[in-house]
Amino acid sequence: MNYRNIFQNILPPERLHFDGDIMEFHSKDETEDLHFRPGVVAEPVSTMEVSALIRMAFEHEVPVTAGGARTGLSGGALAIKGGLVLSLRRMNKILLIDEKNHQVIVEPGVITEVLQNAVSEKGLFYAVDPASQGTCTIGGNIAENSGGPRAVKYGVTKDWVLNLEVVLPDGRVIETGANTLKNSTGYNLTGLIVGSEGTLGVVTRATLKLLPLPRFQALMLVPFTSITNACKTVSEIFRAGAMPSAVEFMEHDAMVLTQEFTGNKEISIDPTDKAYLLIEVDGFDESEIMPQCERILSVLEENGSGEVLFAQSDSEKEQLWFLRRRVGEAVKAASIYKEEDTVVPRGMLPDLMLAVKSIGEKYGFRSICYGHAGDGNLHINILRDDLSDQFWSVELNKAIRELFDVVVAMGGTLSGEHGIGLVQKDFMDIAFSPDELSVLKMIKNGFDPKGIMNPGKMFPNS
Ligand code: LAC
Ligand code: ZN
Repeated sequence: MNYRNIFQNILPPERLHFDGDIMEFHSKDETEDLHFRPGVVAEPVSTMEVSALIRMAFEHEVPVTAGGARTGLSGGALAIKGGLVLSLRRMNKILLIDEKNHQVIVEPGVITEVLQNAVSEKGLFYAVDPASQGTCTIGGNIAENSGGPRAVKYGVTKDWVLNLEVVLPDGRVIETGANTLKNSTGYNLTGLIVGSEGTLGVVTRATLKLLPLPRFQALMLVPFTSITNACKTVSEIFRAGAMPSAVEFMEHDAMVLTQEFTGNKEISIDPTDKAYLLIEVDGFDESEIMPQCERILSVLEENGSGEVLFAQSDSEKEQLWFLRRRVGEAVKAASIYKEEDTVVPRGMLPDLMLAVKSIGEKYGFRSICYGHAGDGNLHINILRDDLSDQFWSVELNKAIRELFDVVVAMGGTLSGEHGIGLVQKDFMDIAFSPDELSVLKMIKNGFDPKGIMNPGKMFPNS
């Protein structure tokens, strides 16, 4: 297909690319070591341009894959069927911070941390904080329904989106809801688009909800000599009536690897530790913090934790968060890997960890686990090490299937916050019955009858 002929009249040449380094950048994201080269990369700056590009793609049946910062972990932004990659990174304006209504209106290419900083200057808080918050964009967060450490108290992206402007697969532009805190008017289209991984349309504007900024935080790193005890402690913290703003889990190996990767070894860790919880408590007032910490400390003691390291200063807090947020990169730098973003009801976390390790032993792979324990969301990283090609491409899929079977039997599901995208689509039959999958398919076909929107994602055999 001659993409130049199809798209050249829509954008000026400096924002429409057919070759050069920019094609390489848009061939990858952060998922494993995958690489798919698009036919054309377009960098629109307005909804009108997005609409015109998509209208043309619809007419010529060109696959359309939207992307932003390319930090995704399920291959959602990879143009696996080639075609048009719509880079939304130039649509990066914060259009309105509505202090009166605690709302913000943004374009999809706004970097999450830029938004957080802009609203915090006004004493406001955008709560969703994926580990990649310094680079990922709101559009990507919406596409994948991203979470992050503070989701345990504040929820994930879907909990903060009030209304979206969306370009449909034929180029028409709709709004999904209203800029109101409540809305029980018709189907919840906003909820449907959040997490739809670019398979139903392209988000060009979002109205998000804000909170007053919690200005006080306590942060503690808690070692455990037993992984099961660390995991068991998590649900007990909540049962004791505490409401931490983060409860993160890291296996000892994750901590060691990240310290080596970052060169940041100031926090001394004991070789007998098996796992750590990183627990944060926040509040609008200093007096809210201590009672919460006391409840948590007594649960920790009952569960045989090691000595609790309380961050004494903002820089110590930053250092601990720095380490936690770099685990993913550290794992990636250590080995080719596959990551499963499993999530189970919080109380099942000890069973999930046991299952991961026993499946690893049975099949002979090494795993490094970490994640958002407070949400029951565990990032299971399976390392390639020196496993054979045959194992990596065939046997491992059996192991992952076994793992997902166990996860679903525990009441959990395949992905908590990274999405299904390309890499988990062949396991969707574990989470959904044929009838349930057919409902998903009906929705997809209703929005996208020509199947041009992010094809080859989310649906098995697609
Ligand atoms: C994290 C990313 C990988 O939690 O979701 O670090
Ligand atoms: Zn995560």
